[in-house]
Amino acid sequence: MHLLPALCVFWLLALALALEEDSPLDCVPRRSVPYHRNNAHLFHEKGVFNYSTMLLREDLDLLLLGAREAVYALDLNDISKKLASVKWEVTQKQNDDCKNKGKDPETECKNYIRILHQTQDNRMYVCGTNAFEPECDYMSYADGNLTLEKRREDGKGKCPFDPFQRYASIMVENSLYSATSMNFLGSEPVLMRSSSVAIRTEFKSSWLNEPNFVSMAQMPESYMSEAGDDDKVYLFFSETAVECDCYNKLVVSRVARVCKGDLGGQRTLQKKWTSFLKARMDCPVLESQLPYIIQDTYRSCDPQQPWKDCLFYAIFTPQLDTSDLSAVCAYRVSDISRVFAEGKYKTPVPVETSFVKWVMYSGDVPVPRPGACINNAARKMGINQSLHLPDRTLQFIKDRPLMDQAIQPIGEKPVLVRKGATFTRILVNQVQAADGEKYRVMFIGTEEGTLLKAVNYDGEMFIIEEVQIFQPPEPIKILKFSNVTGQLYAGSDYGAAQIPLATCGRSSSCLDCVLARDPYCGWDKAVGKCLVLSNSQRELIQSVKEGNASLCPHADPVKPMNISIWPGGNLKLHCPSSSTLAKTSWKRDGSPLTPSTRHQLLQDALLILNATDTDGGRYRCLSVELSKAGEYTTTVAEYQVSVASAESKDGRLIFPQAQMDGPSVAGLQAIVGLLLVSFLALLAWNFYKGHLPLPWNCRKKNREQSKETPEKGGLNTTVTYQDALRPALAEDKPLVSGTSNGSNNHHTGGEAAFSAPGEENDGPKVLLPSLQYIDDESEI
Ligand SMILES: *[C@@H]1O[C@H](CO)[C@@H](O)[C@H](O)[C@H]1NC(C)=O
Ligand SMILES: *[C@@H]1O[C@H](CO)[C@@H](O)[C@H](O)[C@H]1NC(C)=O
Ligand SMILES: *[C@@H]1O[C@H](CO)[C@@H](O)[C@H](O)[C@H]1NC(C)=O
Ligand SMILES: *[C@@H]1O[C@H](CO)[C@@H](O)[C@H](O)[C@H]1NC(C)=O
Ligand SMILES: *[C@@H]1O[C@H](CO)[C@@H](O)[C@H](O)[C@H]1NC(C)=O
Ligand SMILES: *[C@@H]1O[C@H](CO)[C@@H](O)[C@H](O)[C@H]1NC(C)=O
Ligand SMILES: *[C@@H]1O[C@H](CO)[C@@H](O)[C@H](O)[C@H]1NC(C)=O
Repeated sequence: MHLLPALCVFWLLALALALEEDSPLDCVPRRSVPYHRNNAHLFHEKGVFNYSTMLLREDLDLLLLGAREAVYALDLNDISKKLASVKWEVTQKQNDDCKNKGKDPETECKNYIRILHQTQDNRMYVCGTNAFEPECDYMSYADGNLTLEKRREDGKGKCPFDPFQRYASIMVENSLYSATSMNFLGSEPVLMRSSSVAIRTEFKSSWLNEPNFVSMAQMPESYMSEAGDDDKVYLFFSETAVECDCYNKLVVSRVARVCKGDLGGQRTLQKKWTSFLKARMDCPVLESQLPYIIQDTYRSCDPQQPWKDCLFYAIFTPQLDTSDLSAVCAYRVSDISRVFAEGKYKTPVPVETSFVKWVMYSGDVPVPRPGACINNAARKMGINQSLHLPDRTLQFIKDRPLMDQAIQPIGEKPVLVRKGATFTRILVNQVQAADGEKYRVMFIGTEEGTLLKAVNYDGEMFIIEEVQIFQPPEPIKILKFSNVTGQLYAGSDYGAAQIPLATCGRSSSCLDCVLARDPYCGWDKAVGKCLVLSNSQRELIQSVKEGNASLCPHADPVKPMNISIWPGGNLKLHCPSSSTLAKTSWKRDGSPLTPSTRHQLLQDALLILNATDTDGGRYRCLSVELSKAGEYTTTVAEYQVSVASAESKDGRLIFPQAQMDGPSVAGLQAIVGLLLVSFLALLAWNFYKGHLPLPWNCRKKNREQSKETPEKGGLNTTVTYQDALRPALAEDKPLVSGTSNGSNNHHTGGEAAFSAPGEENDGPKVLLPSLQYIDDESEI
């Protein structure tokens, strides 16, 4: 398994070859952090849902959070502190009107805050769906109060009517750019700028064809531009492809852009964009498959670099629910810009009667170039604004807003692919690591309320961790970052969360800290802790590209635990490895332990079944993790197991400390007795039904065993059918397998029958109530 990290890169190839369900080549997070209230600061107001709009007001130290019928002002440093709030509820009449139009009064006919932007006078612009009658208003924060001005501006074209419809918006110099549907039915999609003169797209399927808007971003392209170019606003969306001559609807991902100075045309394209150009965006996840669909983007710019070096990171998910893959592709802004500035156009050509085919346009292109911003060349021709553009240019772009060439991602392949919870939102943060290099770290929200942290190290996909933020799992619907607090902010239907960029303290050893390859974290030898790089004055041990932990000091030896067991009893020895990429192995008295019927290797434990005198000895669990720099082995746990002789002097056994405060023996006897009774009842029923042709001696044996075990004490957990069986199958060496005679699924209460493989039907059978073992819960 030397290739494990590298395999992430090549898994696509392998996946194409082997269509197996659980491909081991999947890029898995190195660490999975279950839900814990310390994972994030949480905010949730009782009875209020849909926290999916956010505005950072770093100037006021506030996070403004838009929810259903309410806006909150939260402390940016700790969002669990609510500083102010304002309600914006629909009136009874609005609710009734909405209901009469056939919408659901409890969900659709509410006011969902969808737009929240800062204006130049430091107020805020807010829009809500307002019971399918979108409205906008100004809001201010003063003296600790959040106040709506009740201006009741029409929100048509700015804010969606339908709260379930996706939309995008951005505020640029007091002009709101919005992409949404303009009408009740949702059939008039627009990209619109609301300024003194509102400019929007044409209602033509060649412009927008059943689009699903995703996000917007602006780019300061006029800055130091030799050609005298204008700033741009980019829009990302997916839509039904007009250019596809296929029978079925095909959805493609798009990027469109408009020029900030666009005022529309004089006669042609009056009050419409003269600079609306769009191109297909590809993210080739699997060859010869339907294109993946864009879901979110993030503009990642290095403040020290020109805009041309900015990247767009975009999330893609499959067109059909046939796979659970999600991908991230990264695009250079300069590549996108070049396609629009120099690329060929697509043009419709009628074939036969009513069918139109889109092909590359190879005729003459009018001057000024259709869709281009007003630049120096145009100005030289006396064209100072889009109103001066000639009809020929405008007519051309009106009919042909689509570029022929598609935009390819950097490296023509994704920077991350993962099988599992669908990606919903992405945010990218750039950090300088100890090696002096800058890395772009991806934070990805999922459908299941988790946040992934991943990096692509020179083509190698690496997921540092996956943290459960929302419990119960709720899709992450918005993700923001404040470079002032250095914190991430996530929103879901249930609440909002504030998460630090790094929680280095999750690594408690130097090896774990270095192999986590988190560019934010490093090991401080002096204090023996994994610390955030930027907070430390001392030099920290870090090796993000290589995972070279050779500078780590030797770890303290682990303290062995003493454990005793009766012959015939079962024992579970825990081995909690800090990395899912590590392989664990066991040694007994120094020599490797090979799995057998009685020694089951689970993911995080060793299970000893039906112990014999020979099972005593020193057990050591080793974790072996591979990195580019080598193989790192650590001792995770050590146990001194002694097997009590069957005829113990006083008939009692001494158990380790961890077992002492378990339930009383009498209580256990009662439980086991109960289990036994219910098991017998179930068994009897099964025999009655003829489902279970089990030999009689098996049941008798188990009755004896179950009776015996409680007297031996030291049992506090019952292994369930799944627990025992699943890992066994995963190891591909089933030590026990479920009896497959009869198709009945009677093992619901854990009372399932096992039989050892390779043994005939009349061989010894283990019944689950007897599969009790000493479960050492103490943390190692
Ligand atoms: C709002 O939140 C509720 C509760 O979680 C959810 O059922 C509903 O789908 C959400 N509505 C929208 C428009 O997202
Ligand atoms: C702000 O709210 C407080 C209490 O809700 C109120 O006493 C105060 O008058 C308000 N201030 C302004 C300026 O409205
Ligand atoms: C364009 O601007 C230049 C300089 O600002 C001016 O001289 C020229 O008359 C303008 N042309 C038109 C058509 O307005
Ligand atoms: C945060 O980002 C803004 C631009 O988005 C920049 O002007 C500012 O200097 C940054 N602040 C810090 C502390 O990095
Ligand atoms: C384990 O037992 C040995 C002797 O058998 C004893 O020296 C040691 O202290 C015990 N360890 C613990 C942790 O109880
Ligand atoms: C346990 O092992 C003993 C001998 O080592 C054997 O006789 C017995 O059948 C085993 N019990 C089970 C349930 O496998
Ligand atoms: C790991 O780091 C040590 C110390 O910096 C260096 O000597 C060694 O060559 C490195 N190993 C690899 C495989 O890069």
